[in-house]
Formats: sequence, structure tokens, C-alpha cells
Amino acid sequence: MQVKGLPGFRDFYPADIALLHHIFAAWRAVSARYGFEEYDGPPLEPLDLYTRKSGEEIVEQLYHFDDKGGRSVALRPEMTPTLARMVAAKASDFKKPIRWYSIPHLFRYERQQRGRLREHFQLNMDLIGESGPLADAEVIAAAIDIMRELGLGADAVRVRLSDRQMMRALLLAAGLDESQLAVAYTTIDKIEREDRGKAAERLKTAGITGPAVDRVFDIGSIRGLEDALAALGKVRGGEEVAENFAACHAALCRMGLGDFLEVDLSIVRGLAYYTGIVYELFDANRSLRAICGGGRYDGLLKALGGVDLPATGFGMGDVVITELLRDHSIVPDAGGRLDAFVVAVTTADVPEVLRLSHALRDRGVRVEYALKAQAVAKQLKIASARQAKTAVIIGPDEREAGEVMLRNLGTGTEERIAVDKLVTEHEWV
Ligand code: HAM
Repeated sequence: MQVKGLPGFRDFYPADIALLHHIFAAWRAVSARYGFEEYDGPPLEPLDLYTRKSGEEIVEQLYHFDDKGGRSVALRPEMTPTLARMVAAKASDFKKPIRWYSIPHLFRYERQQRGRLREHFQLNMDLIGESGPLADAEVIAAAIDIMRELGLGADAVRVRLSDRQMMRALLLAAGLDESQLAVAYTTIDKIEREDRGKAAERLKTAGITGPAVDRVFDIGSIRGLEDALAALGKVRGGEEVAENFAACHAALCRMGLGDFLEVDLSIVRGLAYYTGIVYELFDANRSLRAICGGGRYDGLLKALGGVDLPATGFGMGDVVITELLRDHSIVPDAGGRLDAFVVAVTTADVPEVLRLSHALRDRGVRVEYALKAQAVAKQLKIASARQAKTAVIIGPDEREAGEVMLRNLGTGTEERIAVDKLVTEHEWV
């Protein structure tokens, strides 16, 4: 019986890997441009690492089990707790602010749907040791620049920007107390997806009733910088948090990225550890799940490693980007993967084919040849199927003259050139 792969897990055929690497290349290029260094951690972690601070939603999605030594372990569903642990363990070794990126393979037992699988690759860019709004602006700008690098402009992608400090100030002013904030955040986070009655029920269970219920919905409905700042201007402690948020927004506008920004107070983020500016990137039509999500998490390093360092960063998955590149038809052409196919006219030419092919490979030329005796026409057919640019044809006449026949497989033109010249001087463009 045929054994099928698991639902939500992908097979990467060569064309899929080519697209994945195209996305990785953009991630790495922009990370380098922003001075970020790559790191990695283990794919299997103690279960505790996630149950302590990540929040209910992600804990429900964990792939976890007891290992043979009786330890409770989990496949990593996200990178941030590992990063917090790693930095906290050696915090004094690194010059602050730390700029690190990683591309982990992550696992979450989610309901499979478009843009959402049970494994994905996720770029994480995090900036640790700086609490000011320019640090938030820096990572948000990097996320936008990755979109631009991939050919997606402000017409295709938007950043929905919010701030948990702003929400906190507004919610406290609405009469909520600190212990009710988490429930209010969960409700606002689901504002676009959930029935109002169900949401009000949840608020009621946490003791939020009467006009405070409507205020929670009103706060989650605030859109645009002006309206957000106006609302904050009216509440205690609002001015200071507004200043921080406005500074981040202004920095991004100064960089020329203002067209990508939408202030949207329904953005809270599902993970529990965020403490400040939060954001998600979406396709402009909103037909897909979030491309990227992140924010400030100033308490996580202390909670997981006992080192009090502010931090901000994001995670950006490959799955939604892949869908988006396909929707916009900007998937790169995989291109030819061979510079030359070396053809033996007779079996007596095979030793020279082997010698020459290896000499070319030593010089970095991408070469293939037939692995068994075949007619020239058949060898040329494989050459064009492989999108080789050139056929290097070797027959008894050529061998005698110390030459090869070079055929341009695009134009069909041919020239004879000396073997030595082919190896040392020919330009394989
Ligand atoms: P997250 O919002 O859970 O954040 O994930 C970030 C991004 O990863 C999402 O926007 C989405 O593109 C992708 N993603 C998440 N789950 C899946 C899935 N099941 N299938 C496909 N793609 C998925 C975090 O993980 C935070 N730790 C990010 C972060 C880094 N915050 C600060 N630093």
C-alpha cells in the first residue's frame, strides 16, 4: 500500500525549492543590508519554553511528546522563545543592540487552509537591547523592504500598525482594570472574525459589562493615525505612548515607506508576550492570512532567562509569500541549470568527454553528459530539455584536430574551437 505524506506537510519538488530559495535570498539580502547576523537554535525544545509565555493559542497547536529520557519536549512552533533563551544565556557577550536573524522550520498543528500549513519556514528578524521607537521602525522597514525586494509594492501589501501601550491606556480609561486587559486584547484580536454576541459573552465572564463593552469594540475600531492620536489625547498617560507610536510612524514616513502604513487598532497579535508597538503585514486585498507579524516584547528575556533587555522583531512565513508571488505572477523563471552538455559522437569519444567535462567542472562550469552510449540526436534532446546553453560536440575529427564543435543551442550557430581555449578562455555567459 502506498504511504502518503501527512496533511499540512509539503513535498518540495525542484521548482518548489527554487521558489523557496528565491524567498530565502530576499530574506538574506535585506537582513544583510540592515546589518543583521544569522543564528539558529534546536528544532526540539523543552515543552516549558512555550507553555510559560507564548499564550494559549500556540500551546494548543504544539507537536509535543515525552522523549525516551522522560522529558516533555516540543517541536518549535516559533523562534522567539529560543532567541530569548539564547540571548539571555550569554547576554553580556554581545554588543547591544543585537541584530539577529534566523530562518527556522516551524511546526504547528493547525487546521490546514490556504496560507496555513502544519510546517512553514519563517524569517525572524529581532533587535534586542534598544527600547526606543527607531528600533521598532528599523525592523518594520526591513519587513517592508523584503516585500519590495520580491517585487511587491504598496499597491500589493500593507502594514497594519498598532500599539499595546496605546490600547492599554485607552482600555484603562474605559474603566477596565489590569487583570481584564488580556481578555480585551483577545476580543479585539478577533474583532473581524467573531460574532459580537460571543465576544460580549467573553468580556462579561471577565467582569466587563455595560458601556465598557461598547468601548472595547470602539477602541478596536479606531483607524488612522489622527483618530488614534485624538483618542489618546483625551486619556491619562495617553500623550506619552502616543508620542512613541507617532515617532515610529514618522520614522517610516521619513524613509519613504509611508504608503505602506495603515494605523489599525484591531491589531493586537495572538501571542501573549507583546508589550508595545505591534503590526501585521497583509496583502492589500486581504484575501490571505498575515504575511508577517511582530512587535515589541520587552518582558520575555527576563521571564525566560532572567535578563532584563527590551526586544522587538517579527516573523515572516514562506507560505503566504509563495501564494502572493503566484497570485501576482512574479515567480522567477528557474532558468537554465546547465552551461554545457558535452556530446560524444561515437563511443570512442567518451574518454575525451569525461576528461573535458571534468576539466570544465573544475573551473565552475555547469556540465552534464550522457551516462550511456546514445545517438547524437538523443543527447541533444536531453541537452535542450535541461535548458543547456551550449552543446560541446566531440567526434573523431574534432579529437584528431584537438578541437570541439561548440553549438549555441539558442541560435543554432556552430564554431570549432581548440579544446585548450575552451577550458581556459571561453566565457560561459
Ligand atoms: P506569528 O504571527 O505566529 O508570530 O507568525 C508569524 C508569521 O508566520 C505569520 O504572519 C505567517 O506568515 C507565518 N505563519 C505562522 N503560522 C503559520 C502556519 N501554520 N502556516 C504558514 N505560515 C504560518 C510569531 O511566530 C512570532 N514569534 C514572531 C516574532 C518574532 N515576534 C517577535 N519576533
